[in-house]
Amino acid sequence: MLGVCYYPEQWPTSLWREDARKMKALGLTFVRIGEFAWSRFEPEPGVYDFSWFDEIVAMLTEAGLKVVIGTPTATPPKWLIDRHPDILPVDPLTGRVRGFGSRRHYDFSSETYLRECERIVLALAERYGQHPGVAGWQTDNELSCHDTTLSASPAARSAFQAWCADHYADVDALNTAWGNVFWSMEYRSFDEIELPVGAVTETSPAHRLAYRRFSSDQVVRFHDAQVKILRAHSPGRFVNHNFIPMNETGVDNHAVAADLDFASYDNYPLGRTDLLMAQESAEVFAPYMRTGHPDFGTFFFDQTRGLALGAFWIMEQQPGPVNWANHNPRPAPGMVRLWTLEAFAHGAGVVSYFRWRQAPFAQEQMHAGLLRPDSSQAAAWPEVEAVGRDLAILDLGQHATATAKVALMVDVQAQWLGEIERQALSYDYTQILMDHYRALRALGVDVDFVAPDGDVSAYTLVVIPSLAMPTAETIARLKASSAIVMFGPRSGAKTDDLTIPDGLPPGPLRDLLPIRVLSVETLRPDCPAELVWNNGRYPSTIWREELELTGAAEVLARHDDGGPAIVRAGKAIYVGSVSDRRFLTDFLESLCVEAGVAVQRLPRDVRLRRRGDLTFAFNYGDQPIAAPAPPNARFILGAQTIAPRDVAVWKDPA
Ligand code: GAL
Repeated sequence: MLGVCYYPEQWPTSLWREDARKMKALGLTFVRIGEFAWSRFEPEPGVYDFSWFDEIVAMLTEAGLKVVIGTPTATPPKWLIDRHPDILPVDPLTGRVRGFGSRRHYDFSSETYLRECERIVLALAERYGQHPGVAGWQTDNELSCHDTTLSASPAARSAFQAWCADHYADVDALNTAWGNVFWSMEYRSFDEIELPVGAVTETSPAHRLAYRRFSSDQVVRFHDAQVKILRAHSPGRFVNHNFIPMNETGVDNHAVAADLDFASYDNYPLGRTDLLMAQESAEVFAPYMRTGHPDFGTFFFDQTRGLALGAFWIMEQQPGPVNWANHNPRPAPGMVRLWTLEAFAHGAGVVSYFRWRQAPFAQEQMHAGLLRPDSSQAAAWPEVEAVGRDLAILDLGQHATATAKVALMVDVQAQWLGEIERQALSYDYTQILMDHYRALRALGVDVDFVAPDGDVSAYTLVVIPSLAMPTAETIARLKASSAIVMFGPRSGAKTDDLTIPDGLPPGPLRDLLPIRVLSVETLRPDCPAELVWNNGRYPSTIWREELELTGAAEVLARHDDGGPAIVRAGKAIYVGSVSDRRFLTDFLESLCVEAGVAVQRLPRDVRLRRRGDLTFAFNYGDQPIAAPAPPNARFILGAQTIAPRDVAVWKDPA
């Protein structure tokens, strides 16, 4: 099903009814509204005006559309900030207050703001919570976008002190845990504790990790308060949030999603590709300039699906050029349809376009919509119509997304560790995670993401690029599973307080693998050493561990100095080096084969994904390709030859 993001408050009321009619005629089902409209809901302190919203909710409902209301808490109005300037966050890098004039100008630790949000959310929930046209809710908007997780406000500082007291009870325990004897960093009481910002040089890594965890907890606390109100006043309606990737926000998205019905993702393939490939040569970048990279969108689709109950939506789908990347090209013809079908192939329940009509004013006036500012149809329109025809053929309700055979474990602690204790400028946990994902996807493998506390019992292969601080429960679950489990370097590297574990890394993972990590070196990626596996030589870069065997284990690969680089004991494998995607593809292929996972080396710009008994193939390239389908495949959509930027869907022969 399809939807759209709509901002009635930005248009004359005279357009509304016709807009609703056209949305329905286009085949849309859901309309998200309201998420930035606080100054219209409450133009004066305590004076609500819901009349206009009543009207548009009624019009959309009468037109046969379902309404998703976004809570407006990403945009506190001017009067609220003027009354309570303590709502504003403080930039931890500059120490400056981040002021009014755009959005997200609030501090997750402001008790005043939390109360104000509870008030406006309650007012909306009481008024619309049981409205027959309201299908569900979106909390806030892209929590923590624009680097707003961390704040260095006085409110954040005292909340952090309370968080520390809560976690350590005794300040000496904190001093010991953080190693504060080093450089005379000891505190005498919790109220002496500083935020780890603005110091002369590096602050203690344990201190920074605590600040990250605290800040993420503050986001969860803020979010949960809204969820609680919506649940109480809007029974039978869903509550969701439109996430952005947690490597961008530093928030544990799994914790935020814990109480949601499903998670959504905002998919801007060209904007994201432009930013993620900014350092690539023109030769490497150009093929994807108008298509997006084939693995970037899906990397986040699959992660978002893993956040809550295996369901997800695309709440915002790019329909044309955006305004916020370094460069903002038009999508190649066909791509809006392709991206939409790809989201459905990866299990999306709904794809909703951002936005209905391009605004002629303000910050996003250069951002395309389904309509141009003059209400004429923009380039994406016929593609959305085409998707409607595709969906009628595919009947996706009959094809539920199954659990994959391969799980990729995503560990926010490993992400934070990688950011805090860099050791190598080029060590980037999310890049490493994505390299594993890309290798699996290039092998035609469907991938589920699981968190360290997730259920792994259904998988035959669990790939863990890094598990920084494994808990006893995670280890027990991995031990109990019959899957092959592959750990990447920097697993078991630290205790929960970011210290080196007793008996050296991989600490408690020694339960699975009899090894010790004697030392670590990090190398510039352009000065690689080597790794020898299966008679092949591969680069060994960025992160290399000197491993010692402490018990019976098989050495699968060696460093160029002859030391063990990959070690295996039973079904557990430890890889003590970062290599490249060629290595990951070869190595993961061998593990997939052993784990009974079908692999198929795909052409560079083609990707596959199964949903129920349907197999989808996506051709991101500019040349026709033969569908990588079995000989007697029954094509439901498209045919044996897939045109550039086109899609084929088939059923395997019975
Ligand atoms: C999203 C955001 C929207 C809009 C859009 C523009 O990140 O949620 O409100 O700003 O980007 O691409």
